[in-house]
Amino acid sequence: MSCQTLPHERHMDHQHGMAGTDGELRIVAFLCNWCSYAGADKAGSSQLPVPPEVSVIRVMCSGRVEPTLILEAFQKGADGVMVLACHPGDCHYKQGNLRAFCRAELLERMLPQLGIDQARFCFDYVSAAEAEKFSQLTGDFTEQVRRLTIHRETGLKD
Ligand code: FES
Repeated sequence: MSCQTLPHERHMDHQHGMAGTDGELRIVAFLCNWCSYAGADKAGSSQLPVPPEVSVIRVMCSGRVEPTLILEAFQKGADGVMVLACHPGDCHYKQGNLRAFCRAELLERMLPQLGIDQARFCFDYVSAAEAEKFSQLTGDFTEQVRRLTIHRETGLKD
């Protein structure tokens, strides 16, 4: 899959896992070019807070994000993975976001069997106009994943 990224983004390194210092939280966000990526861009230009732990991967449609890509991100060290799509009815490729939603539901059910907490995965819809939603979602998800990671490392239960 061909991905374009924002200039400040970190990238997944296919040989050495994800970039970043050890102990640093790593969130991978697959964003649809036509909606969520534009929402993220607007969040940036509006100077809304977006956690620096979020690494954006731009895709042409959420329907292009195969479950294997999500699992690969986890396998390479992501602490959390987001897939943000166009709202239902707004997908430029008709049903890409519907496919992505169905896959996300299946993947969520599989994750515990792979030893991955479902709360480390997020599928949602963000339009080009929803910069505030993008900021809120990435902030909330990052904090949720941070809590899970701290609990895992310290052996605490939720
Ligand atoms: S074009 Fe945005 S989810 Fe398909």
